[in-house]
Amino acid sequence: MKKLYIVLTLILGIHALPAKQQADYRDYEQTDRACVQELYRLNHLNQTVDFVLQKKQEYGSLTKAQLGIWKVLELLNKFVDNSDPDLDLPQLVHALQTAESIRKDGYPRWLILTGLIHDCGKILSYFNEPQWAVVGDTFPVGCKFSDKRIGRTVMHYNSSSDSAI
Ligand SMILES: [Fe+2]
Repeated sequence: MKKLYIVLTLILGIHALPAKQQADYRDYEQTDRACVQELYRLNHLNQTVDFVLQKKQEYGSLTKAQLGIWKVLELLNKFVDNSDPDLDLPQLVHALQTAESIRKDGYPRWLILTGLIHDCGKILSYFNEPQWAVVGDTFPVGCKFSDKRIGRTVMHYNSSSDSAI
């Protein structure tokens, strides 16, 4: 059960650090970091079906760069995720903390590696993608939005909410 919890928390982006209670984490509505609300406002305004299809076309050829995983992690050491109400440390620190937390709890090596690389997609910020396009909780476009998702109070900004692909 504990393994399942760790896997789910990684997938859902809720990281289980032992020093805090789960209730202390990720209150997107009541955060002291003003950038969190602004990021989700911009995300929901601009993350449309057209935008997603444009980025699929742009990145689908995989010709932007060729980087090893350590180079990606080094570059992420200069990156602070503005969508996270709990964390204002560089992503390298977050990656190492996540991997170490998993290692310390005795989980298998593949899960430690998963913890280390789980946020490497944020490297897209180095290709001049704005943070609203690469960080934070994502959502499907081209369909009705869930009323349970993060940032639901600003979903009305998105023009794709009622469209279908
Ligand atoms: Fe993360």
